[in-house]
Amino acid sequence: SRLNLQYRLKYHLMGEYGWINDPNGFIYYKGKYHLFYQHNPYEAVWGPMHWGHAISKDLVKWTYLPIALVPGDDFDKDGCFSGSAIEKDDMLCLLYTGHIYTGPDKSKDYKQVQNLAYSKDGINFIKYSKNPVIGEKQIPEEASKKDFRDPKVFKNGQYYYMMLGSNDGNGHGQVLLYKSTNLKYWNFVNILARGNENTGYNWECPDLFELQGKYVLMISTEHIKTRGNDFNGIHSSIYFIGDLDINKGIFKFDIDGYQQIDYGFDFYAPQTTSDKLGRRLMVAWMDMWGEVMPTQERGHNWAGAMTLPREILMANGKLYFRPIKEIENYRKNHYKLTNLMIDGEKKLDTYGDCYELEVEFEGGKAEEFGLKIRKGDNEETILSYKRDESLFIFDRNKSGIGPKGERKINVALKNNKLKLRVFVDVSSVEIFINDGEKVMSGRIYPSKDSVNISVYSKGECKINYLNKWDIVVD
Ligand code: FRU
Repeated sequence: SRLNLQYRLKYHLMGEYGWINDPNGFIYYKGKYHLFYQHNPYEAVWGPMHWGHAISKDLVKWTYLPIALVPGDDFDKDGCFSGSAIEKDDMLCLLYTGHIYTGPDKSKDYKQVQNLAYSKDGINFIKYSKNPVIGEKQIPEEASKKDFRDPKVFKNGQYYYMMLGSNDGNGHGQVLLYKSTNLKYWNFVNILARGNENTGYNWECPDLFELQGKYVLMISTEHIKTRGNDFNGIHSSIYFIGDLDINKGIFKFDIDGYQQIDYGFDFYAPQTTSDKLGRRLMVAWMDMWGEVMPTQERGHNWAGAMTLPREILMANGKLYFRPIKEIENYRKNHYKLTNLMIDGEKKLDTYGDCYELEVEFEGGKAEEFGLKIRKGDNEETILSYKRDESLFIFDRNKSGIGPKGERKINVALKNNKLKLRVFVDVSSVEIFINDGEKVMSGRIYPSKDSVNISVYSKGECKINYLNKWDIVVD
């Protein structure tokens, strides 16, 4: 049967068919980027998790490889859950969670163990014959006996370390740390970090990396408490900046110092890696648990996309996120305007559903200004700045079918200016504000014909420059 491809993205990674969620095994291995993902290849709903697999030379153009991990062995009977990759002795090694149902109630009758698989060619994976490499007996006191997943492996000195998402059974998320010399035998070291009553009851998908002499711990957390306009998703991904005492297995951090990684609607389970350029790169699932996903309908039969890979930088004690520079190689059809005064709405004489738009507003006295994208009959997605409240707002109430709502964040103007880089890809929008100081990602499902773009203001406002390029990946 012919599938409806209307909402398929053109420069983001998706599954070929069926469902995807978390990015897994993100690594630069033998000259190529590998990205795996949680995948149900049979249906556009979450189900028996496989690891889908794609490779790329530049993080933009991806080639699908055969599915890397298929569930069904004793140690991963009901799912190959999230995990990570590491190179050892020239081999590409995967550490992942085996999900096993132990009774009829799938919401609570399950256990989780950690497994190893390896590959000599980076394509075909062999599951280690003595899996699991970490079983239930190695779960420490003060840790959930069920939620014990998403291994992220890194090397420090001569040892390999594995972090696992967990909780303490009392409503606090935590990260467990294990140590190994060979990826096969693991010893528990310590509880690396623990959250409090505000930071969610279970931590998933931990990630840890060094940046400019500090360490960053990222975690994805279930039901974090809202804080002002922040943390309004069902789940959220947050980071802490701190210091690592690897010998004691302790991450030292300020428990109240957490920040949101992405302030949009659809962003979860980010995973990072580094490459030969020394960059710290991040990719996340650009959807959210519990959200309406119109492409799950018959005729589409797919759901889930990855974000644009982002580079992480640090300045003034916080992280900045920038789209990877390789995306600029795919810019076509440059449209440009400079020094445009507006007071009201002005439709641009360019349009599209797959582009990058870079704009600098100089607020003047305008009380509100911004962009309207994917605009058509009764449809528009509004990206606005409200001066009185110092709020940037991503409004998808009129974006088309699919989920609605708005997300607001505090943004200060700099010399009365606001700079945006907006990436639109058919059914996604990613907004990088003031050079990556804040980022918002979200999915929208407008009609095919809603392709107009306008700039608008309430009161006089100047557009110092606006550049737009189609992004064309052939
Ligand atoms: C996060 C998560 C992980 C788990 C995977 C299952 O989105 O819940 O903790 O390994 O998805 O698909």
